[in-house]
Amino acid sequence: MDRRSFIKNALVVGTGALFASRGSATGEASRQQHVPSGDTQAQIKNARFPDGFLWGMATSAFQVEGAWNADGKGESIWDRYSHTPGKIKDGATADVSCDQYHRYKEDIAIMKRLNMKSYRFSTSWARIQPSGTGPVNQKGLDYYSRLVDALLEEGIRPFCTIYHWDLPQALEDRGGWPNRDLAGYYADFAAILAKNLGDRITIWAPFNMPATFTYHGYGTGWNPPSRASFDLFLKAAHTVNLAQGEAFRAIKAASSKATVGSAYGMEPVYPKTNSAVDRAAAARFHAFHNLYFIETAMHGEYPKAFAGETPYEAMGFKSGDEKIMKVPLDWLGVHYYCRLVVSDAGGGSQEKLPNPDPMSQMHVEVPNEGPRTDGGLEVWPRGIYDLVMQLSRDYNHPIIEITETGGAYADSPDENGRVADVRRIAFCRDHLTELSRAIADGARVRAYHAWTLLDNFEWADGYTKRFGLTYVDFANQKRTVKDSGLWYGRVAAANRLDV
Ligand code: FCB
Repeated sequence: MDRRSFIKNALVVGTGALFASRGSATGEASRQQHVPSGDTQAQIKNARFPDGFLWGMATSAFQVEGAWNADGKGESIWDRYSHTPGKIKDGATADVSCDQYHRYKEDIAIMKRLNMKSYRFSTSWARIQPSGTGPVNQKGLDYYSRLVDALLEEGIRPFCTIYHWDLPQALEDRGGWPNRDLAGYYADFAAILAKNLGDRITIWAPFNMPATFTYHGYGTGWNPPSRASFDLFLKAAHTVNLAQGEAFRAIKAASSKATVGSAYGMEPVYPKTNSAVDRAAAARFHAFHNLYFIETAMHGEYPKAFAGETPYEAMGFKSGDEKIMKVPLDWLGVHYYCRLVVSDAGGGSQEKLPNPDPMSQMHVEVPNEGPRTDGGLEVWPRGIYDLVMQLSRDYNHPIIEITETGGAYADSPDENGRVADVRRIAFCRDHLTELSRAIADGARVRAYHAWTLLDNFEWADGYTKRFGLTYVDFANQKRTVKDSGLWYGRVAAANRLDV
């Protein structure tokens, strides 16, 4: 599956209207807001970010570390999947990838040079507990300890995402996320991290994009572990909601400095027309895709994500679970890649899915008005403003960190070795202009993490989609900071965009 269909599919998971819920613009008004804001030179010049704003970059363990079986690491579901012929473009694997496991000092030096203040990385569960439970593999834990120390030495905040999709295969063999026991195993893993690294790490995100890995791991089967049943998705998602709550408490118990949020993949959603049914469908999508792991934490209940009743029985919901799920997240982490337009499916379901979600009854479209990245997604900077403002209004102005935003562009070094990726500079600048507008309008955004530090293993797309601000030559591991990286480094130093 190419990146566009992957993201498109990753997004097609539910309901929701940025504007259809809670007193925002009506459908028609929101359609007018589809018009790009058209960043002017003046807006760029006037864009401001608060003192101490945390400029950062994000990666994930499976995508950059390599060293897939080094020092006692166990197998993960993504190892198994990428070692299965036919699953990844060009037969690529992440066995070596960017080799960050051995080259982290070089990568931290790049971030230091670019004035970064925050590095969002993830931990590989199978590196620390090779079979997902039981004794710690000290060498695996030591790697993260060295990484954290090296970041702190350079004045870069270590931001730990505990789980970015690479479940130990041994836990999948015990039923995977639909098995409720995983909530406890996962909290034990989180506690190991917090006990050992919590003296130095203050910011923890239990999960990356829980809606995506549960839906596409267990609902559609497009991602490993490739199981495809809506019931399994419901159970997996419920276990993850329990795990989020359990981990929150375990981390706080182990480290008094800890703050815990999470990193949610979100898309602002606009109803296709102003009709009541389209607005309701968009609201369902918002609930299902954007809020399914936030409402549970903030309010201890599932949002209204389905056309019918919430299927508690199919989820395996037990009395008392509402208390386990409910935890006051200290901040919200938000990824923004694109916007979506949703309409009601008239009692049917999404016809294009092989295993359609039988409960949300909607059509989801990626619009075509903006330019496209080389990954095929529409570029729509205005969406980050709408999303952040919606969350600010609906959750009483929480602290927000942008945990990922970026685009795939194929630019490579010219004859002088320079990577002039002008489209990525425009992408970052226009999104940041919109973000600064949200901050000026009252949103409490304190960090922005560009996706991503390095070109890396882009899941089923292998090495064919380059999202990095640094070019990686995978034949020899040579890193070349792209023009976008140099530009972003100047932005970070100046705290403004006209650099
Ligand atoms: C996000 C994922 C990240 C990366 C980017 C491009 O959905 O969190 O790992 O693949 O997309």
